[in-house]
Amino acid sequence: MKLSRRVEEIKPSPTLSLDAKAKELISRGEDIISFGAGEPDFPTPSSASEGGKKAIDLGKTKYTAVDGIPELKRSAIKRFYDFFGVKYEIGEVIVTPGAKMAIYEALFSLVDEGDEVIALSPYWVSYIDMIKMVGGKPKIVETKPENNFEPIPDDIAKSISEKTKLIILNFPCNPTGSVASPETFKEIAQAIKDKDIFVISDEIYGTMVYDGVFESFARFLKDRTVVIWGMSKTYSMTGWRIGFAFGPEKIISAMKKVQSQTTSNPTTISQYASLSALEEEPQKFVRETTEEFRKRRDLIYALLVEMGLKVVKPKGAFYIFPDVSRFLGMKVKNTDELSDFLLNKKKVLVIPGSGFGAEGFIRLSFALSESKIIEGIKRIKEGLDEINQS
Ligand SMILES: Cc1ncc(COP(=O)(O)O)c(C=O)c1O
Repeated sequence: MKLSRRVEEIKPSPTLSLDAKAKELISRGEDIISFGAGEPDFPTPSSASEGGKKAIDLGKTKYTAVDGIPELKRSAIKRFYDFFGVKYEIGEVIVTPGAKMAIYEALFSLVDEGDEVIALSPYWVSYIDMIKMVGGKPKIVETKPENNFEPIPDDIAKSISEKTKLIILNFPCNPTGSVASPETFKEIAQAIKDKDIFVISDEIYGTMVYDGVFESFARFLKDRTVVIWGMSKTYSMTGWRIGFAFGPEKIISAMKKVQSQTTSNPTTISQYASLSALEEEPQKFVRETTEEFRKRRDLIYALLVEMGLKVVKPKGAFYIFPDVSRFLGMKVKNTDELSDFLLNKKKVLVIPGSGFGAEGFIRLSFALSESKIIEGIKRIKEGLDEINQS
């Protein structure tokens, strides 16, 4: 059977499949500690769950407008303004089935066959495959640990060619936890402002910042930026599948057209649940969970430093990205093998850097309790010690 060239070119998300593997082992009763989770471990706020249940009881269970119910769009605009200080009109936002779909729709709406799309490495696993899915050509610009994984605007400027259509930015970053400074964003905006280049700024972790400040890229180049945001991480609602895109009306309308011919509206019940979470005053859930993540970030960073690993202290999101290159080459050849070894021998899941375009590193999510972090790091240390001794 011959499948399409496009589907043959892409691979399944490695983070989702590894996390599913760990979840399956845990459900079989195995004592696995997973640093794989791409989702907060807090329960969805009760306001959201109540909103969802009420929607079912009131029979709000039919199709909605393709781009989402207007109340939710207005509420998302208000919250985005409260958090990031950028104001949008109702025609400049679309509600999507998860932030992932928002990214795909934005790429589909902007990229033509052969267009170049700049992405920064280490990158979130899905960008490269999504760029390929719409016929684009990924062009990678590396960010480095010695610069805290912050991009150098000049490196981006140098990689721009006649064919560059778009740049994807993701700060706070999955997998490094890096947060680009407002000055860096300003310089990137400056470098492209006279060119016909767009930006997708994936700000899904925008509220989870522990050091310094994060400003939306839209503050610097609003008329050419599509900002991605959503309920999954900030409100611990990954399974409800609600994302948002904010941007110029022309692009948002194009995305609506794509959505109308693919998924139709995002799930009605989830939209009402999201509305309840966004409307709740004050946003206690967001403040409290961010504080909890800050404590865990401090803990995991201290433990990794104590182990002697080279690691950049993440400023945001809930990931840390230590360098394990000195353990590779003998007993385990690469981070895929290291991840297999740690899961099978030490019952601890870490995500190999290969999927993020950064072999030699591993991604640890700190969306797990402090006691599990301590136990999990102990297991990693035992595993690495064993590799060192062999
Ligand atoms: C950087 C980044 N963007 C987008 C997403 C997707 O979010 P959603 O679950 O809302 O589709 C994720 C999820 O892991 C992510 O890490």
